Amino acid sequence: MPNVADNHFDAWIAALEERHLADLTFPEVSRALRALSFAYVEGRKTARNNRGAVHGALSGAGKRAAFALFYGPLHYIFVDRVVARLGTSTTSDHGVSSRTLIDLGCGTGGAGAAWAVRARMARVFGIDRNTWVLAEAAQTYRRFGLRAETTRSEVARVRLPKTPAALLAAFVLNELPEPDREALLHVLLRRAKTTGDPVLIVEPIARSMSPWWDKWADVFAEAGGSSAEWRFKVELPPLLRKLDRAAGLNHRELTGRTLWLSGTGDSGST
Ligand SMILES: C[S@@+](CC[C@H](N)C(=O)[O-])C[C@H]1O[C@@H](n2cnc3c(N)ncnc32)[C@H](O)[C@@H]1O
Repeated sequence: MPNVADNHFDAWIAALEERHLADLTFPEVSRALRALSFAYVEGRKTARNNRGAVHGALSGAGKRAAFALFYGPLHYIFVDRVVARLGTSTTSDHGVSSRTLIDLGCGTGGAGAAWAVRARMARVFGIDRNTWVLAEAAQTYRRFGLRAETTRSEVARVRLPKTPAALLAAFVLNELPEPDREALLHVLLRRAKTTGDPVLIVEPIARSMSPWWDKWADVFAEAGGSSAEWRFKVELPPLLRKLDRAAGLNHRELTGRTLWLSGTGDSGST
C-alpha cells in the first residue's frame, strides 16, 4: 500500500468502488477482470504489440470497471514504489514542485497521480485518446488534490507545454505503432536533454511484448539515464485482493521495468 497520501488513496478506492459497483455486481466485475487480464496476457504472447488486446480492454462496462477498479490502483501502487526507490528528490524538503506532471496515455490517472503526489507536483496534464478514461482520470487527479487538465490526443502528436515538466509514459508505449513509439521516445529524450525535464517510462517485464526495450535502454544509458526491473511484495487493499482472488490472478508481487532520465532541477520525489 502507498505510504504517502494513504487517506487520499483509500478515499479514491472507496469512491471507485461506489461508482463502479453501483450498476455491476462483484461477480460481473471479477469475470470482466479475468477476461481483461487474459486479453493482456494473450496479447503479450501472440503480438509484437498489444494494441488489439488493449483496445478490447475498454470495450464494455464490465471491462471498463475492472480497468478502473483494479489496474488503475495497481499502477498507482507500482509507480509510487518506483518513484520512491528512484530517490530523485531535488525539491526543498517541504517545497511544492513547480513542474507539471505530463501523464502520457494517462488511462484512469493512477500512475500519474502517484508520481505527482510523491514529487509534490501540484499540477497534472493527462493525455489520452479515449474520452472515457479522461473523465476517470480527471476524477482521480481531483481525489488526490491535484490541479488537472486533461486532453484528448494521440500521445505521439500532442503539443507538450513549454513550462517545466516531468514526463511519464506508463504502460502505454507498447500500445503505439512502431513509428509513433520511436517518434515519442525521441521527443522525450530531446526534451530531457534540452530542458532537464525528468522522464519515466514504465512497462511490464515480458520481453516478448517490448522488442524495442533493449535498444532504448542503451539510448537512455548513453544519455545518462538508467533502466531497471522491479519486484515489490505488496499487500493489496482489501477490494483489490478480493478481485485478484476472484479473477484467479496473483498480484502479491508487482513487477515492471522502467527507463529513467532524472533531468535536472526541481523534479523530484520523496
Ligand atoms: C494500459 S493503459 C495505462 C494507463 C495509465 N498510464 C496507467 O498506468 O494506469 C494505456 C492507455 O493508453 C491509451 N493509449 C493507447 N494508445 C494511445 C495513443 N496512441 N494516444 C493516446 N493514448 C493512447 C489508452 O487509451 C489507455 O488509456
